[in-house]
Amino acid sequence: MLVKVPNVLDAQQLAAVRALLDQGRDAWVDGRVTAGYQGAPVKFNQQIDERSEVAHRCQDIILSALERHPLFISAALPNVVYPPMFNRYGEGMAFGAHVDGSVRIHPHTGNKLRTDLSATLFLAQPDEYDGGELTVEDTYGAHAVKLAAGDMVLYPATSLHRVTPVTRGVRLACFFWIQSLIRDDQQRSMLFDMDSAIQILNQTKADDLARRKLVGCYHNLMRQWSET
Ligand code: NI
Repeated sequence: MLVKVPNVLDAQQLAAVRALLDQGRDAWVDGRVTAGYQGAPVKFNQQIDERSEVAHRCQDIILSALERHPLFISAALPNVVYPPMFNRYGEGMAFGAHVDGSVRIHPHTGNKLRTDLSATLFLAQPDEYDGGELTVEDTYGAHAVKLAAGDMVLYPATSLHRVTPVTRGVRLACFFWIQSLIRDDQQRSMLFDMDSAIQILNQTKADDLARRKLVGCYHNLMRQWSET
């Protein structure tokens, strides 16, 4: 399931992150430093050094925004969020088809994190660059994603995906992974649908007892399926 999560960053937070990334010019390195053997030959971009001060300050802004975003929580059911990373594609840069690594070491805790979901948070407006679509493949075909700055897409980390070549301007984005409380994408999708339906029923103030029972089912499914 691909989920669009709009307005993860408001205009002020976006401006703050953009200014930090702009100031931190020295911290941009070749993107291949974090690529695995599959990704390295097809990866042509730049990344902010994840140990840099700039990265840490941007991570704080984004992680605190995510914690307060109900749609992100409902769709991802996060257990552990990998500290966000930042990339930059100038003209001619691209990232060929690949699947993200399944397990990463959390840079702060040293613990292993299973990547259930991949996230891309767009930091440049669509009119700032041409090309640079994130293309995610699922059983229904390829989906090209290019969102407004501040909006994010969540997609199963099992998906084959790529970033098409940038032909004008600069594509700036933030990317990271989530270990979800619900490992299975289909189970997580069903819980997301159920939660979305409950939110609508709450707004319409539909039958109170029936809603309580439905909320109970949601939590009991979470109890059955979640792992921490
Ligand atoms: Ni990737």
